[in-house]
Amino acid sequence: MLTTDYLVIGSGVAGLTFAIKIAERFPDRKVIIVTKGDKDESNTKYAQGGVAVVIDKKEDSFQKHIQDTLIAGDGLCDRAVVEMVVKEGPKRLQELVNWGANFDTNSNGNYDLGKEGGHSEYRVVHHKDITGYEIEQTLLRCIQQLKNITVLTHHFVIDLITQHHIKEVKEKELTCYGAYLLNEKDNTIKAIQATNTLLASGGIGSVYGHTTNPVIATGDGIAMAYRAKALVKDMEFVQFHPTALYMAEGGALFLISEAVRGFGAYLRNKQGHRFMPDYDVRAELASRDIVSQSIDNELKKHGDTHVFLDCTHLNVLEFTKHFPNIYQKCKDLHIDISKHWIPVVPASHYLCGGIVVDTYGRTSVNNLFSCGECSRTGLHGANRLASNSLLEALVYSHNIFKYLASNYTKHYQIVIPEWNDKGTTIPDEHVLIQHNLKELQALMRNYVGIVRSNSRLQKAKIKLDNIYQEVEELYKTSKISVSLCELRNMVNVAHLIINQSVKRKENKGGYFNIDNVYNTSQKSF
Ligand code: FAD
Ligand code: SIN
Repeated sequence: MLTTDYLVIGSGVAGLTFAIKIAERFPDRKVIIVTKGDKDESNTKYAQGGVAVVIDKKEDSFQKHIQDTLIAGDGLCDRAVVEMVVKEGPKRLQELVNWGANFDTNSNGNYDLGKEGGHSEYRVVHHKDITGYEIEQTLLRCIQQLKNITVLTHHFVIDLITQHHIKEVKEKELTCYGAYLLNEKDNTIKAIQATNTLLASGGIGSVYGHTTNPVIATGDGIAMAYRAKALVKDMEFVQFHPTALYMAEGGALFLISEAVRGFGAYLRNKQGHRFMPDYDVRAELASRDIVSQSIDNELKKHGDTHVFLDCTHLNVLEFTKHFPNIYQKCKDLHIDISKHWIPVVPASHYLCGGIVVDTYGRTSVNNLFSCGECSRTGLHGANRLASNSLLEALVYSHNIFKYLASNYTKHYQIVIPEWNDKGTTIPDEHVLIQHNLKELQALMRNYVGIVRSNSRLQKAKIKLDNIYQEVEELYKTSKISVSLCELRNMVNVAHLIINQSVKRKENKGGYFNIDNVYNTSQKSF
């Protein structure tokens, strides 16, 4: 069994930022970061647009950023959280810069600020169109310098350890004591005992299959927190990004950043009509929920598979300077953005809900913290404002650090039982895992997508129950594998999304149910 002061699950912006801060402050304390893939594989690595921060105090103000966040969240944000996050933003961004992150500047030496949907001002700090990559690499360089941090790559966290696993603990209140890990290289499972555990395990995009997220985004942290009986909320608010590059075969889709629309690109349907002004006065720069729902409506109206992003009127040289990665990707696919429209389609992108935390990142389970996309802070409400996610992770990792820097109690010594795999066999039925995964993803796309209905949600419940039974049976009888655990986690996440959708009787932000149109705050399609 391994022991550590701080167990950090995830090596994206949330996990790494916390690890650096706590390890720097307490060189005599041990930090272990566990990550299931290569150390940089994460949603963070693929972030394009940037970090929303109020920099330009002449045109912009905290008040405007707060207001934009509240409007995007459609009445369900926690105002105190929004104010705290927005006001902390500039300090947290400066920290990244101090650690070596490089953000684009203009000819005056000021940050070159971008604009995205729902923002009333230019306030998105970025590194070309690969902001996440720049942040991830900067943080990993810092991690390397810190001797008290160990990074375990290709280690998959299976489950959190609570008193349910430990006989001698009689406490009634739920407490986390660490986690069980699967070493993907030698297939061994060990326990890791931790004084404090941080879940920074990212998003859920893979539950839908067609997603801007990498395949690792399987909602593991949310599923294990849910199994540990932590509070999980707002799961119905799955955010669909309006403009993923359309690929007939689906799967993980390349993102065409919202910043491209901020740069002046138009959305057109197959008939060539620029449709967004028909739906919202902000046109292409309406908030993401509205743009995705409008595209969905256009697709259904015309029976099309995709719409287009028209950049042909934009200055190509400037475009390539701002978006070299997107330009190159299009070029590789023989899309010349100066002549051709880019085919795009909405895709699952971000989860606004997740593990409920307070402003210190504390979950409802003692010694268990959560940060980043897997957490639900109250910042996003029913729909996240673009580029507020990296910001949220930076602010909350700092809050958790501050809290833990002044609150540290070592666990008493306990014996954590070894992982019990008696009665299981090596699965010879890998095909069953693949089959159930495909079925789950199709079910979520077809019945629990951008536009939902009561009858589709009821059908989804029944179909999911069949998948659940089969997957649980496999889990109980098979030797643990990453693909099986991920599938089990995705089934748990799907269950949470469907059940919490059924309970929502009013359309808000990213949640739209055709049977709730009379309870809609903003719009109907
Ligand atoms: P992640 O960066 O996803 O990291 C999660 C980590 O947890 C990974 O290291 C993963 O391996 C690990 N992990 C997960 N499960 C396990 C397990 N069972 N065992 C061990 N390790 C595990 N947001 C913005 O604010 N601005 C943007 O411009 C922006 N652009 C985006 C573009 C794309 C294409 C995508 C996909 C997202 C974008 N977002 C953007 C959202 C933002 O990038 C993410 O919400 C944010 O990076 C999440 O950070 P995180 O640290 O919470 O999780
Ligand atoms: C994008 O660049 O469009 C993504 C921004 C985000 O998800 O915040």
